[in-house]
Amino acid sequence: MYPILETKKLTANIYWMEVKAERIAKSCMPGQFVIVRTDADSERIPLTICDYNREKGTITIVFQPVGASTHLMTSLKSGDAFHDVAGPLGCPSELTKETKEALAAKKILFVAGGVGTAPVYPQVKWLHEQGVAADVIVGAKTKELLILEEEMKAVAGNLYVTTDDGSYGRSGMVTKTIQDLVEQEGKHYDLCVAIGPMIMMKFVCKTTEALNIPTIVSLNPIMVDGTGMCGACRVTVGGEVKFACVDGPEFDGHLVNFDEAMQRQQIYKTQEGRAYLAAKE
Ligand code: NAD
Ligand code: FES
Repeated sequence: MYPILETKKLTANIYWMEVKAERIAKSCMPGQFVIVRTDADSERIPLTICDYNREKGTITIVFQPVGASTHLMTSLKSGDAFHDVAGPLGCPSELTKETKEALAAKKILFVAGGVGTAPVYPQVKWLHEQGVAADVIVGAKTKELLILEEEMKAVAGNLYVTTDDGSYGRSGMVTKTIQDLVEQEGKHYDLCVAIGPMIMMKFVCKTTEALNIPTIVSLNPIMVDGTGMCGACRVTVGGEVKFACVDGPEFDGHLVNFDEAMQRQQIYKTQEGRAYLAAKE
């Protein structure tokens, strides 16, 4: 069992949890994820590791209820436990394999959208610990949906907050701020890392392709086993079939077939929605 030490709500519908998982906390790296199960019969839910504390033996996860199982997770409190937490899964971010000198020579821009801000945080924090200050754009629909602003401010070089409705920070979607930074404010970036909803990553990639900025995205397709056996997380990258759980989750965004990935995500929507409504009754 994996005890939950603390829970909090980051917004009306986004939840944060600190979980005791000593073996995972000891070895996980930014970019990796875990698969959690609330009980022996529940669905396996993939969640990116948002933070880890090697001394304390804990990891933190952030999630939004979208189906029956994540809805059930919202009722878990400090003192409860997950039946199992498998991980760390997936490949660590490519950035973690580069030397400090190579990283210092690079101007990196992170683009985080909504709940995707959570998986961006450990990467920016890890770079900060290597003495590298990356620029970060965090986008949310409204001020109320913005998460981890203070945490991100503490580790980012420059933090640019955008809201779709203009209720806080810059106005508009993240793609507008990317364009403004490069075209109006004279910024230059060697690499962009974008994590958020699939539609955001698709349009960030269109924007950065036009601006000639190589771009990494972190894909979160439907996952079942998380070990490359079931094929549920199949995506097409550069015309080749890849499994996000073992080949990713990070890929060259300019090569990802986003339309296919979004279509596959939709396949399970009806089933998930029915189970969610049944769980709420
Ligand atoms: P959201 O819909 O509120 O979008 C967040 C931001 O993305 C927006 O504020 C906007 O700036 C940008 N965006 C959205 N659509 C865009 C478009 N068409 N063009 C340009 N920019 C656009 O985000 P949310 O509701 O928090 O997202 C939830 C989704 O994120 C879920 O589907 C979840 O699966 C996904 N998610 C992905 C990851 C990952 O690892 N990739 C991690 C967590 C959550
Ligand atoms: Fe089964 Fe990736 S989740 S192959």
